[in-house]
Amino acid sequence: EDGASLYKERCAGCHGADGAKSTPVKGTSQEIEKKLKGYLDGSYGGTKKAVMAGIVKKLSDEQIKLVSAHIATF
Ligand code: HEM
Repeated sequence: EDGASLYKERCAGCHGADGAKSTPVKGTSQEIEKKLKGYLDGSYGGTKKAVMAGIVKKLSDEQIKLVSAHIATF
């Protein structure tokens, strides 16, 4: 399992293959990881944060790191 396939399987449907669709995802690995963890502990998010919280809950710490590193390549 790698960040690219994780992203393709679980994120691209909403965010697009290159992160530019609907809510854009872009930033450094650390920035993305911070946002994803923020959805988990409620410290980050907008009006649709419940959508992302449900998705991030299903990722392990390692998967959060992998997918964040992949998004940083966009
Ligand atoms: C927001 C990543 C899957 C819908 C975000 C943000 C990130 C992110 C980093 C924050 C963007 C920002 O505010 O700068 C991911 C990753 C995914 C994933 C890594 C897969 C593991 C999905 C899916 C959907 C979705 C499948 C649709 C069902 C949204 C929406 C927001 C958002 C609606 C805005 C939420 C809010 O109001 O804060 N996502 N996403 N995402 N994502 Fe995802």
